[in-house]
Amino acid sequence: MEFDKAYRSLSHWAWTDTRIPRELKELIEANKPQTSLELGCGLGRFSRFMASQKIEATAIDFSAVAIEKAKKRVGGDKYKPTYLVGDVTNLEILSGPFDVSFDIGCFHCLDREGQQSYVKEVHRLLKPGSTHLIWALDNSPSNIKLTPGYIKDIFGNSFELQKSQHSRRRVVFVASHWYWLRRK
Ligand SMILES: C[S@@+](CC[C@H](N)C(=O)[O-])C[C@H]1O[C@@H](n2cnc3c(N)ncnc32)[C@H](O)[C@@H]1O
Repeated sequence: MEFDKAYRSLSHWAWTDTRIPRELKELIEANKPQTSLELGCGLGRFSRFMASQKIEATAIDFSAVAIEKAKKRVGGDKYKPTYLVGDVTNLEILSGPFDVSFDIGCFHCLDREGQQSYVKEVHRLLKPGSTHLIWALDNSPSNIKLTPGYIKDIFGNSFELQKSQHSRRRVVFVASHWYWLRRK
């Protein structure tokens, strides 16, 4: 699998735990969650931060290599997330409900069918009124142009797009957005 290969060669994925986005910190401040779910967690740096805030954090990624590394990285931590191998388009291994959920860089990897399944799963797993935070590239690797209008449409009637904002995060010069979605 492409992602497994990338995670094996850490020189391309030398992500550290040093920079936690302000948007994630604000998600905690605004919601005071006891539980969180992260979709496409990679090496797990963001859920590691959630767990350090004493939040019961669950994080999932379909790269078994990334999940193994994520587990190793938190080996000595007092509060650890639960890292799971799984596909964000079919999360039957989880039952929830979660207080908040987030995705930093996974949604833009999915094709439209995958996105539709993802929306159903996040809806099933989040408590009503809860927030799902997404950071996504505007030009997705799946060749779908992600805009606030597109996100509003794909999340349909089961979520309200509360806010979207250009992000300063860029990957190889591709612009990106943050999206705050409220589960109805
Ligand atoms: C750009 S990386 C971001 C990783 C992590 N969120 C971070 O910023 O450190 C995207 C991640 O999404 C995961 N991913 C992509 N499609 C997925 C799917 N269908 N199910 C689960 N994980 C997926 C990849 O394995 C990869 O770890």
